[in-house]
Amino acid sequence: MADNKVFIFDTTLRDGEQVPGCKLNTEEKIKLALKLEALGVDIIEAGFPISSPGDFASVEEISKVIKNATVCGLTRAVQKDIEVAAAALKPAVRPRIHTGIGSSDNHIKYKFNTTRENIIERAVAAVKLARNLVPDVEFFAEDAGRADLQFLARLVEAVIGAGATVVNIPDTTGSCLPHQYAEKFSYLLNHVANADKAIFSCHCHNDLGLATANSIAGAIAGARQIECTINGIGERAGNTSLEEVVMAIKKHPELDLYTGVDTTQLLPMSHLVAETMRMVVQPNKAVVGDNAFSHSSGIHQDGFLKEATTYEIIAPHEVGADTSRIVLTARSGRSALAYRFKNLGYEFDRNQVDELYQQFLNVADAKKEVGDEDLKEMADKVKTTA
Ligand code: KIV
Ligand code: ZN
Repeated sequence: MADNKVFIFDTTLRDGEQVPGCKLNTEEKIKLALKLEALGVDIIEAGFPISSPGDFASVEEISKVIKNATVCGLTRAVQKDIEVAAAALKPAVRPRIHTGIGSSDNHIKYKFNTTRENIIERAVAAVKLARNLVPDVEFFAEDAGRADLQFLARLVEAVIGAGATVVNIPDTTGSCLPHQYAEKFSYLLNHVANADKAIFSCHCHNDLGLATANSIAGAIAGARQIECTINGIGERAGNTSLEEVVMAIKKHPELDLYTGVDTTQLLPMSHLVAETMRMVVQPNKAVVGDNAFSHSSGIHQDGFLKEATTYEIIAPHEVGADTSRIVLTARSGRSALAYRFKNLGYEFDRNQVDELYQQFLNVADAKKEVGDEDLKEMADKVKTTA
């Protein structure tokens, strides 16, 4: 692929919504889809139309309102699924059917009880049918992470021959290490005769905490689409987190890759998804967690207050956060204490700060975090005794 744009395929509304307790109604899905489009994602996987009347309606209604992004519906490699998805996507300006089938011997044996040859036949038939209904067809080789690579190459070549415009190589079980996942793309891009006719896509799950690393490794190896979700929500341990891959690409210009995502909308989007799906974001979550821009230990605070880049590789405004936070705990130092006093309007000389610091440590040892009210109380005592 000559172009170095990495297309961002958001599956918050499909793989993300499969999380227990995260189910959305049509109204909520439309609201999130519009925000995803404004965020700049290229493809919105809106749902799995055959799975329920509600999901059909969601895909159909999202297809009506989304004008710039591609709207995608998931199917199995089954005729009825594909026809239903095409019907739901009818109003879309840019419809895409995402169809596929298991590709690992494990799935072929236990899920399909069939042969590799039969899998290729079913995959080709599904892609041909989908291509008769929409111009953009993505094929997923489910459990490609554990599939035999030579068989995977045959399958991929066959579906591209049948008209697939995008080929998704999912690490469905999140089992790959980054170099192993990258090797799959290198191998496929070099051994599939018609590889230049399709975009290759990463779809990673986070069972070993490697979904972001694997997706970036895939892109470095030549994939030009990454499938991901806001806050990394998804089946089991989740999917690749959109905010993480987008910021990793942005922060590494040497990769010579880019996305169309407006990073200043990442934090508001994260909050909206957490609230709508009632799924809290862990405080230490990369990029969008509450602690992503908090500094708590004295050494870090001192460095940060001298120059923010000593401890921050992302400036808060880049992802839509207001500011970094200097949190006061028993591990904090004098410079952080003086800084927080200053923000509250108190200017103390060095001796006063030293004295206050001893009081502060007593309060801090008794509490998890020292807040503004505690500081005011300490400061006012100094002022009245001075
Ligand atoms: O993880 C997976 O393999 C999937 C496919 C349906 C794309 O979600
Ligand atoms: Zn998945």
